[in-house]
Amino acid sequence: MTQSIELEENPARAARFLAENKGIGLVIGREGLASFWLPAPTGGYVTFHHSPSVGTPSNTWCMGVYFVPAGGVIPARCYMRTTGYYSVVAGQAELVLEGKTQILEPGDSLYVERLNEHSFRNSGSGELELLWQTWYTGADVFIEECGIPRKAGEKQPGEIAFTPEQSSRWAEAKDWWAGPLASPNALHGINNSHATRRGEAFVVRREDGSSSWSPGEDMQGFITQKISPFNTAQQQFGIHWQYLHTGMQIPPHLHMRNEEMLFVMDGHGYAQFDDGEKVPIEQGSSVWVGRYVRHTMVAAPDTTMNIQFTITPPSLDVFFTDMGKPRKPGDPQADIFPIDESAFPALKQSWIPYEGQLD
Ligand SMILES: [Fe+2]
Repeated sequence: MTQSIELEENPARAARFLAENKGIGLVIGREGLASFWLPAPTGGYVTFHHSPSVGTPSNTWCMGVYFVPAGGVIPARCYMRTTGYYSVVAGQAELVLEGKTQILEPGDSLYVERLNEHSFRNSGSGELELLWQTWYTGADVFIEECGIPRKAGEKQPGEIAFTPEQSSRWAEAKDWWAGPLASPNALHGINNSHATRRGEAFVVRREDGSSSWSPGEDMQGFITQKISPFNTAQQQFGIHWQYLHTGMQIPPHLHMRNEEMLFVMDGHGYAQFDDGEKVPIEQGSSVWVGRYVRHTMVAAPDTTMNIQFTITPPSLDVFFTDMGKPRKPGDPQADIFPIDESAFPALKQSWIPYEGQLD
């Protein structure tokens, strides 16, 4: 216990003491770490960026991307033990949430807790890229069982022979993580008292959320809080959106208490960890960051970059608000301003600025 008190009071010492417990940093390309062809009515394929089955070091959540051809449908499902977050990266999705149809455009998302039926259809003319995340894991195993392994870059090899079991399982989404479809009142054989324990579900539009201009000369842009303990009942994760102007960066830092995954919604640039190597990133790349891993992400001089990042447990929401200046959608870029030092108590909870140079 003595040691843990010291660690909290002295991050620099903590970094030395906990070197052996340090996590890893990974840049994962558009093709993910594994990929599977999907049965009808979806077609197309799915990639995994993060799950226990692809070896990323966390058993608390999964992340990947659906690539759905025009007209393809991700069948209705209704989670029993899972919370989901879906974000349109490219293309257009027609969401049906508890019978209500809504169109999602790039940057729009669905937050969906247990016992809310939802389905997606690619209602655009091109491919739909739909980022998915689930807490906790298990959906990854279900998808693997329904799909057929796909090699990175492999083009669709004509007719794919799914077994009837794979097709029916995929269409009906029967598994431990997905409950019976339709409203909780229709739960088969389950006491209707469960109906009162249905979770929340709502659409988060691209500009929705509490938004703040970022301080400093190198981080010009803004951060918007999409999901946090302030707008959901869960306390497992936070999801934020960070916009970087051309050439701007998420400054080098590390997290004492969090794991983080950042996904490039658009733009390109590079990511960098402790070893200093500049690893290219582009739309569809993700960056896994374990604890005590110094990291930065930099937008190229010729492009802005939008990054959606997930952090678990959630803890940066207060910091982002305190360090920035309030922003409304459409406001002109704020003048450069220094970080508000009153934010540092919140900062200390999670974020440790890295004082050295990575270059
Ligand atoms: Fe970070």
